[in-house]
Amino acid sequence: MKILIINGPNLSRLDIRDSSIYGDLSYKELVNLITSHASTLGFTVDVRQSDDEAQIIKWLHEASDSNLPVIINPAAFTHYSYAIRDAAEMLKAPLIEVHLSNPLSREEFRHTSVISGVASGTIAGFGPNSYLLALDAMRTLLQK
Ligand code: DQA
Repeated sequence: MKILIINGPNLSRLDIRDSSIYGDLSYKELVNLITSHASTLGFTVDVRQSDDEAQIIKWLHEASDSNLPVIINPAAFTHYSYAIRDAAEMLKAPLIEVHLSNPLSREEFRHTSVISGVASGTIAGFGPNSYLLALDAMRTLLQK
């Protein structure tokens, strides 16, 4: 079973971002961690990152057309991209939203997610482990 993992803007620069918020792993290390946990669960993952809203929407269309489950960290788009939300709403397979940090414990503008309402669930605040927990949750969802 294949899962598409989509990462939004600035996540490719984890080694430069505030490590007290986002942890110590580089983006490459995060991808390796996700890929190796996925393989222990029997999943193949396609992990992508873009700073471009239109690109993320195209990937969601692709996932919708191919009936692919999606794990997404929309990064800052979480808080205001109705276009990503509308694309996510068209998915047929489950969608899980993840965040490295816990946006609810941060600035007020991060307290709103326009994506959560169309996701099966959200996992936030556990650093890289948020993605691994999302993979575990996805396995349960797909077994139903
Ligand atoms: C984030 C949280 C967002 O508020 C922020 O804009 C990000 C990363 C996270 O993973 O904690 O870029 O999605």
